[in-house]
Amino acid sequence: MRQCTPLPYAAAVRPRNDTLLRALLRQPTPYTPIWLMRQAGRYLPEYNATRSRAGSFLALAKSPDFATEVTLQPIERYPLDAAILFSDILTVPDAMGLGLFFSDGEGPRFERPVRSEADVAKLAAPDPELSLTYVLDAVRQIRRALDGRLPLIGFAGSPFTLACYMVEGGSTDDFRTVKTMLYARPDLLHRILQVNAEAVADYLNAQIAAGVDAVMIFDTWGGVLADGAFQRFSLAYLRQVIDRLLRTRDGERIPSIVFAKGGGLWLEELADLGSDALGLDWTVSLAKARARVGRRCALQGNMDPMALFGGEVAICAEVRRLLDDFGPPQRPDGGWDGHVFNLGHGLSPFTPPEAISVLVHAVHSYSRQLRALAS
Ligand code: CP3
Repeated sequence: MRQCTPLPYAAAVRPRNDTLLRALLRQPTPYTPIWLMRQAGRYLPEYNATRSRAGSFLALAKSPDFATEVTLQPIERYPLDAAILFSDILTVPDAMGLGLFFSDGEGPRFERPVRSEADVAKLAAPDPELSLTYVLDAVRQIRRALDGRLPLIGFAGSPFTLACYMVEGGSTDDFRTVKTMLYARPDLLHRILQVNAEAVADYLNAQIAAGVDAVMIFDTWGGVLADGAFQRFSLAYLRQVIDRLLRTRDGERIPSIVFAKGGGLWLEELADLGSDALGLDWTVSLAKARARVGRRCALQGNMDPMALFGGEVAICAEVRRLLDDFGPPQRPDGGWDGHVFNLGHGLSPFTPPEAISVLVHAVHSYSRQLRALAS
């Protein structure tokens, strides 16, 4: 493993609000913690203002000052229980030299997609300390700005999800190019996934060394694979990453979360990966998922982001439905099962900002009530 730069400050201590970390580690919490995928993003007017000052999304993500500013925006507006590093999963293939750019309305694109045998042969895992310094600087700066208030979540894309963008050269509806490689030249795809697994593990470990308190791996696209292919092309490489992750920093546990969108069919196999928590999309019942994963890991999720368009009454009803479905986190035998409230995927840019205040308040107050009723 590569050398990681030591923390520039005294030994890491747990943040003052550590409900997220406790829930991920299946320890007792007074209420259900909540944070939201894409909590810093275009639904926030202050994000759009900072983004126009920066000039573009990439300029924002590549400047530690701007990244710190936008990471803090949602936690200043709402009593969320975690901050998530403002960055993108595609910084890793960008650091491999693929040339990431965003064209308006089309999402992310790569100048040099990985298609041929020669493209694949050139791929190598980047040293995050050298080519992703701006992300690690942002982590250090955000952590200083948080000043021990809340945990900071670091993240990366899964080897397969990154490969989708690297091979397709951008977003896709049918995954035709990457699936063509999967069926015609599986050896090439395996080689890409091997490099990605190494790159993602090194990158997450560098984020841990720089100060993140938990890490999340986004497998946004594993769910488009056939049964069997999912296990060979996504799950196997998620396992390699998890196996190589640092579990502690200065004696503190650093929990890991795997989010596999569309992965409901494979929950038992995902639970066996050895991560501390599984992120769920909204197609899965929390009660059934809890029964299926047992004591292997905590759960995170899983409100449909579109429920935030339903108005206050509908949002509160949905929160109650989800928290009732999970049930009291304390089991009859006295142990605890962890639940972190989140959406089943990222916030829509059209979400009314007031809806998030309603949501966060409802999760905190209703989960406290449920604990009082259960005790
Ligand atoms: O959650 C957060 O608030 C942290 C920041 C974050 C971003 N991207 C910022 C972002 C995180 C965790 C990601 C992860 C990410 N990026 C994923 C996995 C999660 C998921 O959404 O499935 C994926 C697949 C990407 C790749 C990506 N980045 C796409 C497809 C797009 C375009 C779609 C879009 O929403 O515009 C991006 C751009 C992006 N990444 C934006 C943000 C806030 C929007 C950029 C803008 O300001 O124009």
